[in-house]
Amino acid sequence: MIDVERLCRGCMRLLPEGAAVCPVCGYDREREIPSNGKCLPVDTILHGRYLLGSVLGEGGFGITYIAFDLVAQGAVAIKEYFPVGLASRDVEAASGQQVLVMPGEAGMHFRNGLRRFSQEAENLSRFQELPGIVAIRDFFSENGTAYLVMDFIEGQSLKQYMQWYQRDKGGEPMEYTVALALMEPVMGSLAQIHGAGIIHRDVSPDNILVDKEGQVTLIDFGAARAEVSMPDYRSVTVMVKHGYAPEEQYRTHGSQGPWTDVYALSATLYHMISGTLPMEAVERLYRDELIPLKKLTLPAPVPEEISDVIEKGMSVRAENRYQGMEEMYQALKEARKQEAERQAREEEARRQEAERQAQEKAERNAAQEQPGEAAQDQAERGKESLTDPPEQERLRQGDGSSQAQGDGQGGTVCGVLAVVVGALGIVSAVLELLSMIL
Ligand SMILES: Nc1ncnc2c1ncn2[C@@H]1O[C@H](COP(=O)(O)OP(=O)(O)OP(=O)(O)O)[C@@H](O)[C@H]1O
Ligand SMILES: [Mg+2]
Repeated sequence: MIDVERLCRGCMRLLPEGAAVCPVCGYDREREIPSNGKCLPVDTILHGRYLLGSVLGEGGFGITYIAFDLVAQGAVAIKEYFPVGLASRDVEAASGQQVLVMPGEAGMHFRNGLRRFSQEAENLSRFQELPGIVAIRDFFSENGTAYLVMDFIEGQSLKQYMQWYQRDKGGEPMEYTVALALMEPVMGSLAQIHGAGIIHRDVSPDNILVDKEGQVTLIDFGAARAEVSMPDYRSVTVMVKHGYAPEEQYRTHGSQGPWTDVYALSATLYHMISGTLPMEAVERLYRDELIPLKKLTLPAPVPEEISDVIEKGMSVRAENRYQGMEEMYQALKEARKQEAERQAREEEARRQEAERQAQEKAERNAAQEQPGEAAQDQAERGKESLTDPPEQERLRQGDGSSQAQGDGQGGTVCGVLAVVVGALGIVSAVLELLSMIL
């Protein structure tokens, strides 16, 4: 049994004896920030088994805490349903940890959202073994609200990972192959989840965690999000993720479905590969200036087949997109296959060309080595020298041509002189012979 007192409330690791500051996450027990009145204080025990640590995040419809599961003896993350604008709490007041629901219409939205939150937790818990999707371990109601217990993932968000990656590569974004490999499990699992009628609604780099092994996990499913987006434009725009959210999420009655996640996931891929946040979907409605990946100058150019799939996934109009992740996943698989086949064809063509050139060279060498074919060989060499580009260049520049010509004339003069000298030699020899006879 772990000594719970020695657990760091920031990361739930065991602190060294007597240490107040965690050497791993830097959490300082003595400088613990008191609860803002809304979040549950550190050391609260929920459902008789979860010891709460610090707050991991506060969003539009919930508060996420790190916690220690006293039964399973391990760290977990717990999401508390707490929609902004529909609920309040004052832990200092007599009501304590109880969530207070706003009166009137807000109360109805709170309850509807709570119902969706619970239904989704139940549905998601069936997919515990899927890679790329956070595993739901428990779900319970307490304090007038509900709690979702998940595996705690040690790591950083994809948003941070992308920044780190770009810095590490001297400013270059992620290669498309790396981005696709990273996101593959998320796509595959989302395809299955869509098949079960569940939509994520908030796929974005800050809802994807990357652990030390480079495995990615999608967190923060939000069925309740649809309900708690109040029907006024301002609150809707506060809740959507600009650059990743499709246009239907900006509308109160926009029709959301698996195609909504298709847009957000494609936009996430676009950001990973291009290094820039895509233009907002609602702006694209008026003037679409999104540049397809294949047209961007990137260190690893994106093949047309892949770029086209991501572009289709990011179609502004939902009807032009893939209708679910399964469809997009298959299209990407097909695109990768086509790309691999094209590359193989190009590689084969290059290999055949190299082989042809090598054969030609071998034939020329063989011809040069055959003495019976000396004339042909000479002709061949003559031909070669004419087609030899450096030689042509030298001739074209004229520096060698006068020299060559001079050499030719000099050779002729020498030949004539040799003949004259030879003839004189013969004459003197004849005269010498005659003088001897006489
Ligand atoms: N299972 C988990 N393991 C580790 N950290 C987690 C886990 N779930 C959430 N977190 C952390 O908590 C933060 C907030 O969680 P989450 O994304 O679920 O809610 P949110 O975005 O703050 O809120 P909302 O969904 O209400 O808009 C995340 O950014 C992440 O850092
Ligand atoms: Mg989130």
